[in-house]
Amino acid sequence: MHRTAAELKQFEKRLEVELMIHPVIINNHYCNWFANADLNLEDLRFFTLQFSVFSNQFLIAQLHKMINAVDLEEMRAAKEILANEIGCVFKRSTQETLESQKKRAENPEDEGTPELVNTEGTVNGGTFRFQAAHFEWLLDFAKPLGLEFENLGKRKFGSKSTLFFCDELVRIYGSEDFSESAGASYAVENWAAAGFWKQLIQGLKHFKKKQLPELPLGFFTWHDKVEDQHKAHTHDELKELFLGPHPFDEDTFVHSGYEMLNGVWAFWDGLNEERLQRQVN
Ligand SMILES: [Fe+2]
Repeated sequence: MHRTAAELKQFEKRLEVELMIHPVIINNHYCNWFANADLNLEDLRFFTLQFSVFSNQFLIAQLHKMINAVDLEEMRAAKEILANEIGCVFKRSTQETLESQKKRAENPEDEGTPELVNTEGTVNGGTFRFQAAHFEWLLDFAKPLGLEFENLGKRKFGSKSTLFFCDELVRIYGSEDFSESAGASYAVENWAAAGFWKQLIQGLKHFKKKQLPELPLGFFTWHDKVEDQHKAHTHDELKELFLGPHPFDEDTFVHSGYEMLNGVWAFWDGLNEERLQRQVN
């Protein structure tokens, strides 16, 4: 089946109306609050704990996505994300700036720190560093908050809504059905590009300045940089997918995308409920 550019336009319109209107994309109440809140230690500890569970469980979903990939190219794309997530640094395909080269040469020990780690390129030929695992950046962030490895990341620490999100990722994002996984990917990418990293950074910078100057924000600033670049590509990715060789069911794509966003929403809504609950008590 060959799709046309005109059909793509139609489909994009449909996505705007049926998917991009999801509250988690246009009005994430927790992140809106977080950006301007006077955060306290308890807010950040619960947030960090749930985020750490999601970070680890996401690896499982990504592995499913890799195994269930529809072709080799897609398998490699999934591997890029997985390998990078666990510590394989992107090797820039283009010339990297002299400044970051210099910084790294001065401090080879720091090569895994997020401020110095590339946000674009490929893991192919890249160097693996334990310290470049995103989870380790999150551990660095958690430490000044009084949270250590043993307090973080395990499924048993996940709230009901966090675990719902994680399980929906495995079920839909990592699905064997291409229409489902593609719809979920599209949804997740658009959610990630909608600016929640910036809202988190805004709130965290405020907290850092007021209460905890040693709090390292590299985990968040690195992801924000990646998303800024990625945002520009989401349209091209949809075009490639839509006009590409693998047929997918449009209804399933949209429906799965929406279900995935409901999962994402559950995560943030769970955080929001918990903080409101604490306010009451
Ligand atoms: Fe990550």
